[in-house]
Amino acid sequence: MKKLLFLGDVVGSPGRDAIRALAGSLRAELALDFLVVNAENAAAGSGLTKALALELLGAGADALTLGDHVWDQKQFERELPTLERVCRPANLPAAQPGRDRLTLADASGFRLLVFTVLGRNFMGPKADCPFLTADRILAEQAGLYDAALVEVHAEATSEKVALGHYLAGRASVVVGTHTHVPTADASVLAGGTAYQTDAGMCGPYGGVIGRDKAPVIARFLDGMPRPFPVATDDVRLSGLLVTLDASGRAVSAERFERRFAP
Ligand SMILES: [Fe+2]
Ligand SMILES: [Fe+2]
Repeated sequence: MKKLLFLGDVVGSPGRDAIRALAGSLRAELALDFLVVNAENAAAGSGLTKALALELLGAGADALTLGDHVWDQKQFERELPTLERVCRPANLPAAQPGRDRLTLADASGFRLLVFTVLGRNFMGPKADCPFLTADRILAEQAGLYDAALVEVHAEATSEKVALGHYLAGRASVVVGTHTHVPTADASVLAGGTAYQTDAGMCGPYGGVIGRDKAPVIARFLDGMPRPFPVATDDVRLSGLLVTLDASGRAVSAERFERRFAP
């Protein structure tokens, strides 16, 4: 059996502090073979930097994924190609820098393929079809992995559920990110695919999807732009905890949540 924890979008310093404090102990407590973390909001809520990526990897993450905020930090396009365990969304234009997939191996040599596809409904970046991109990468990597984790970074629940069923029996894990709100539908789909529409975020749940609530509410009221500082209250790690059998089929999938009080 293999134990895998996927954690959703790390938001700002509250999210990073929680990862730094808890990732190592969670690895031991949950007997994790793999810990994969989405870090698209780690840098002050928008994007990632090399220094912060190394901090999260050093804290115990095996790999970091990204989302539509991938290029929010200006220098990151030069830094990403130097980071061997960080991948950008796979269905962005091929000319964009950085790895579009990762293959992790545990001590026994069990190989986990990891990649992210962006949804195309209510999302900013111009992205290729996430369904066909997933098909292509699974075909290109055939025989080179024992289990595949496909992250669906998307706004629309319908697009995520459809991708879950589309990849059922072909990917070991299909897990959604981006909305920062965890969904209550963790399950094992037909063919042994662990699924959850959204893993939720690793960050402050006391605001509005990670930002202070007052300026976000004010923006909804008057429509005027203003800064949205990262919130600080009610920090939690959220994700999906999966057990895989030796053949890479998911046998259990449960929503994971851990509160963090600094
Ligand atoms: Fe996010
Ligand atoms: Fe996102």
